[in-house]
Formats: sequence, structure tokens, C-alpha cells
Amino acid sequence: MNSGHLAFFLSIFATTQALDNGLALTPPMGWMHWQRFRCLIDCDIYPDECVSENLFRVMADHLASDGYLEAGYEYIMIDDCWASKERTSEGKLQPDPIRFPSGLKNLSDYVHGKGLKFGIYGDYGTLTCGGYPGSKDYLEIDANTFAEWGVDYLKLDGCYSDYHTIEGGYIKMGKYLNATGRPIVYSCSWPAYQEPEGLKSNYSLLSEVCNLWRNWDDIEDSWYNVTEILQWFADNQDRISQFSGPGHWNDPDMLIIGNYGLSFEQSKAQMAIWAVMAAPLIMSVDLRTIDQKAKDILLNKDVIAVNQDPLGIMGRLVLTKERIDIWTKPVLPKIDDSYSYAIGFLSHRVDGYPRRINFTLSELGINSSKQYTLKDLFEPENEQKIVTTKKLVFIRVKPTGGVLLLATPEDNSIKNQKR
Ligand SMILES: *[C@@H]1O[C@H](CO)[C@@H](O)[C@H](O)[C@H]1NC(C)=O
Ligand SMILES: *[C@@H]1O[C@H](CO)[C@@H](O)[C@H](O)[C@H]1NC(C)=O
Ligand SMILES: *[C@@H]1O[C@H](CO)[C@@H](O)[C@H](O)[C@H]1NC(C)=O
Ligand SMILES: *[C@@H]1O[C@H](CO)[C@@H](O)[C@H](O)[C@H]1NC(C)=O
Ligand SMILES: *[C@@H]1O[C@H](CO)[C@@H](O)[C@H](O)[C@H]1NC(C)=O
Ligand SMILES: *[C@@H]1O[C@H](CO)[C@@H](O)[C@H](O)[C@H]1NC(C)=O
Repeated sequence: MNSGHLAFFLSIFATTQALDNGLALTPPMGWMHWQRFRCLIDCDIYPDECVSENLFRVMADHLASDGYLEAGYEYIMIDDCWASKERTSEGKLQPDPIRFPSGLKNLSDYVHGKGLKFGIYGDYGTLTCGGYPGSKDYLEIDANTFAEWGVDYLKLDGCYSDYHTIEGGYIKMGKYLNATGRPIVYSCSWPAYQEPEGLKSNYSLLSEVCNLWRNWDDIEDSWYNVTEILQWFADNQDRISQFSGPGHWNDPDMLIIGNYGLSFEQSKAQMAIWAVMAAPLIMSVDLRTIDQKAKDILLNKDVIAVNQDPLGIMGRLVLTKERIDIWTKPVLPKIDDSYSYAIGFLSHRVDGYPRRINFTLSELGINSSKQYTLKDLFEPENEQKIVTTKKLVFIRVKPTGGVLLLATPEDNSIKNQKR
């Protein structure tokens, strides 16, 4: 095993003062409206899709009844375009009165009544990205309002602010959120404004202030976006991966599985690599009409377990072979000194047939005297292989597809006892 990497992770954890609000000890899981429903605010033209209390009630019903909550998707989150363009006379944010006639406390109560948690969106700047009131000069009042509404998760965006000096405002908001006494997962966006401008964000600071942070540009509904985002994460992994861990996560943005842009194979690929990256699993899909195959991917328990592994180590791209990327993530169980590993494959190939490639675990940096059982998490009916770390393993990866294997070390001592 790559004890060098692990020692590095552990030393970082020991010296960094991570945000200590007891939240997001595993990557947050939930549903957020943005990628699928955007800023659809015309309820006459889009009665079933507009950003309104009805949309969130219906999605909360599906989250709670269709197996998502049980699988771990517990947050339902409102993104931009929920607010009225005017604050109240006391300077408070308020929801659009036509689309949220019952108010947000009422919606929050509804969501909590389903056993779910309630998330909302704000923006540190003068306006939100969609042109709604921003929190600049209102940080304390907005933190208190969110707490009064029973908010459990805040995504604070960074439009209409100066990205050079943006950290100070986020730190302040974190203090005001803490002062409310209500545990609120705090999702920051400042790297998504700095990194694309060529600035290198301070990830040590991020992990002290935020539970998660968006590193890079917004995902849109395409495979191109999935691969571009992964390219950025791979290029920057040496700088950022050590800052992911229990309570503080890098966030490559929402899952687009179940929408229009990804094929079935591409959907498995996004799920596989998001799981290996310990990325927040935030769906953005119409749960009323999602097809069964996409739903099965999102609800795959073994894949979710990789993502939610308690060690919280962010996986890394370790090798590319014949245009197939191989990512690995140490997970539990650990047998003696040997971790288990999730091994994610993502193919950039488009040549029509499932490409057969070979690899050894040792080549992926997994050196151990143990034997490993290899299980295919999306196709568990495939024969499980037992291999040494030096043995060549052959697998097939479909064009622009993904595979996720779990390599678990054999517990020799248990085997010996049984004999
Ligand atoms: C709040 O929501 C409930 C349903 O959850 C509804 O019956 C009630 O009328 C709402 N209250 C207001 C003030 O709209
Ligand atoms: C506020 O911060 C303190 C110190 O980090 C922490 O112990 C506490 O849990 C936080 N409270 C909330 C509500 O976030
Ligand atoms: C990053 O933030 C930390 C505080 O968490 C600070 O000690 C350090 O100096 C900052 N690094 C840079 C390059 O500003
Ligand atoms: C997503 O794709 C669009 C359209 O091709 C592009 O403009 C945008 O930059 C992409 N975003 C990311 C994060 O790759
Ligand atoms: C393993 O893959 C390499 C290319 O990555 C190839 O050259 C080699 O022939 C393969 N080995 C076997 C035994 O198929
Ligand atoms: C472990 O694997 C890596 C990656 O292939 C290799 O560079 C390294 O030499 C191996 N270490 C041992 C002790 O075999």
C-alpha cells in the first residue's frame, strides 16, 4: 500500500485546524435544484418546473418515499432565484411571495417533517448571480434569518464581489452562522471565483472556515463538462486533495445523472469518479420522471459506501492507460497494515467496443503482501477475482464509460482460524 501518501494525509490533518461544527463528517448527500431547474421563475409557462414551494415539496416527497433518503440523500436545497428582489422593511431577505406563498419556515417545517434537512442559497456579494439581493452588508441579519427558518445547509455564492478580498466576508459569515447556535453546513464558493482567474485559493483556510467548497466552474448537462471538471481536479490534485476530509470537502459540483446530457455508461462514470473523489453527492434531476437505470446508479449502495467511507480520503488519478483514467481511494476495512481500495475507471475512448486493458494493483501504488478480492460494484454478478498485487488483471471499459472496483485485502488470520 502507499503508506507514503497516507502519512502525508495524516500529517496534514494533524496540523490543520479544521472547521469544528460537527457537520459533514462524510460528504454531504442531497438534491439541489440548480442544474436541472435553473432560474425558471415563470410559473405560468412552467407550472411544474418553476422554482417554487410546490417544486420543493414534490421533490421532498420523492426523496423521502423513493429510497433516496434511506440511501443517504438527506438535504433538499434551494439554489438561486428563490428570493424576492426586495428585502423587508427590517432589511431581511424574503422569498418571492407568488412562488413561495407559505414562506420558508413553512417549507422548512414540511421538509423536516419528512425526515429531510433543508438547504438554501445566498451570495456574499451585492447581488446573487441571478440578480437577487446579496448578503453584502447584511451578513449577520441573513445568518439569523436562515437560522430562524430552520436552515441546515447554506450555499454561499460569490457573484458581484471582489474575488481578491472575498475570504474576509466568508470568514465573517461563518462566525455569524456559528453564533446562531444552529448547526448549518457551510458551503463556500470563493475558489470557483479565484481559480478560473488563475489565483490559487488558500485551501488550508477553506478547511478552517467551510464544510465544503466549490473549486471550479459550474457543471452543465454534458459529458464534456464532466471530463473538463475531472481534468481540473486531476491537474490540481497534489495541491487540493489533502484538504478533503471529515468535515471539509472539495466539491466538483452536482451529479447530472438522470438528465439529458449523459448516456447510461457516462452516468456510471460520473458516479464512480465522484465516489472515489469523496465528492458531495448532490443530485439535480427531476425525481418525478427519472428513469429506473439512472435511479439505480444513484442508489447503488456499494458505490455510495465508497463515497461515504469514514476515512474521508479524496481519491486521486494515479494512472492513465490507453486513454482510460484510473483513480484510487483508500477505504476501510483495513486489514493489518493494508487498506481496501476503490478503483475507478473512466474511459475517454470513443472507438466503439469495450476496450480490454490490464493492470496490476502494484502499478496503482498498492503494494502489499496480501491478496485482494476484486468486486465490480456496478456489475456485482461479474465473477470476483482474487489477485496478488503483482498479478495482471484484465478488465473491459465501455466507450466513455466507467467501472468501479473494490479491492479488499484477504484477512489471512480469519482464514487460518477457520481451517
Ligand atoms: C404550511 O404548510 C402546511 C402544510 O405543510 C399547510 O397546511 C399550511 O396551510 C401552511 N401554512 C401557511 C401559513 O401557509
Ligand atoms: C461554533 O464553533 C465552536 C468552536 O469551533 C464549535 O465547538 C461549535 O460546535 C460551533 N457551533 C455551531 C452551532 O456551529
Ligand atoms: C492561508 O491561510 C492560513 C490560515 O488558515 C494562513 O496561516 C496562511 O498564511 C494563508 N496562506 C497564504 C498563502 O496566504
Ligand atoms: C461546460 O460546458 C460549457 C459548454 O460547452 C462550457 O462553456 C463550460 O465552460 C463548461 N464548464 C465546465 C466546468 O467545464
Ligand atoms: C497489457 O497492456 C499493455 C498495454 O498497456 C500491452 O502492451 C500488453 O501486451 C498487455 N499484456 C497482456 C498480457 O495482454
Ligand atoms: C509501490 O508502487 C509504486 C507505484 O507503482 C512503485 O513506484 C513503488 O516502487 C512500489 N513500492 C514497493 C515497495 O514495491
